[in-house]
Amino acid sequence: MTPTADRQVSTTVVVAVTGGIAAYKSCELVRRLRDLGLRVRVAMSRAATEFVGPTTLAALSGERVIHSLFDDPRPERIAHVRWAEEASLLCVAPATADFIAKLAHGVGDDFASTLALAAPCPLLIAPAMEDDMYAHPAVQRNLATLRARGAWIIGPASGLLASGRSGPGRMAEAAEIAAAAHRLLHDRPASAWLAGRRVMVTAGPTRERIDPVRALSNRSSGRMGYALAAEAALLGAEVTLVSGPTSLPAPAQVRRIEVESAAEMASAVSGLVDSCDIAVLAAAVADFRPAEILDEKLEKTGRDDLTLVLERTRDILASLAEQEPRPVLVGFAAESSDVERRAGQKLAAKGCDLIVANRIGHEGTGFESQDNAAVVLDRNGGRVEIARAHKRVVAGAVWEAVARFESGSADG
Ligand code: CTP
Repeated sequence: MTPTADRQVSTTVVVAVTGGIAAYKSCELVRRLRDLGLRVRVAMSRAATEFVGPTTLAALSGERVIHSLFDDPRPERIAHVRWAEEASLLCVAPATADFIAKLAHGVGDDFASTLALAAPCPLLIAPAMEDDMYAHPAVQRNLATLRARGAWIIGPASGLLASGRSGPGRMAEAAEIAAAAHRLLHDRPASAWLAGRRVMVTAGPTRERIDPVRALSNRSSGRMGYALAAEAALLGAEVTLVSGPTSLPAPAQVRRIEVESAAEMASAVSGLVDSCDIAVLAAAVADFRPAEILDEKLEKTGRDDLTLVLERTRDILASLAEQEPRPVLVGFAAESSDVERRAGQKLAAKGCDLIVANRIGHEGTGFESQDNAAVVLDRNGGRVEIARAHKRVVAGAVWEAVARFESGSADG
């Protein structure tokens, strides 16, 4: 690429890949960042080159990859300084415990760490390591130092680790990191405005047992609620996620309480409500459950049809709205038609402060999808339209709508 072509691309992200198994996920991250129209440069630590080849990352980024302070073909323009100046965002993914320590303490002993010292741009860090390393007080203190300095930490998630154990330490998914990068570049919140706030999010479906093997549930993946919880944690909140059955890993820095039925979700929520400032009810709670749970498996022999008697579950959102005092309440309305009018009715009927309305039954958004699009209505008549985007980006926009509602209510 010529220097002229270089200058035509204004937004450059430097991805610093450090040495961990999760380095293979950096390949997908680079591709996703490029899909967002960004110029991506990759800096690698020496250890990272043991996990993934610089040739692969050079091909994916379309740029030369640098992994040594001394392999700069244009020494007159010191590469780490030039890259640092030209970066709009530095994203360290995966970030090892060692590299996090270097960042926290200002060590510059290779290309990536020297670049990080010289870069004035925002810093997004995706830690990846074994759970006991992540839990070590030294690592936690280093992360706290970086956070206090304004760095954005994404992940790690809980799940299967390189050792075969399971726990917090998995690097956040490439799609999640790319969405956070996009958000930091385009509409970075002025500050971690949720710092010190306690947020509760419900997510996922509920499962209502019929007998020991069968249950009634719905198609909610939980992704929207998980994205809201992850984004709230990124904005500095202390987050508790009450989750129905999903296959998703717990987001980083989020306390997850796993429940199965609507009744379990209602009881977990009522135990938390007094200690939260904002409650977001994104779960697709069953409205009805079998009136009776059978102890024995229901046999089909001798039946041509089957009638189940269902009874109403408690409306968790509506019952929270009746409490006094109560947290700021954000409800969801998944509608297949006449979305905004129905959502407006739900906002009033359920007595919440804001409602996030989304259309279901449209390909590419809503249930089970990575993307969503929504309209947020608030009880002061505010309306924010959120265009189709990754759920993590939509989650950021929902939090902005909550911030706007809170500041509007305070002014009024
Ligand atoms: N909700 C809840 N408890 C329930 C049912 C729903 O807290 N038992 C919450 C959901 O988490 C969501 C909102 O209420 O925030 C809207 O849920 P939705 O199912 O769309 O609305 P319903 O009131 O159940 O109305 P309908 O199914 O008739 O559209």
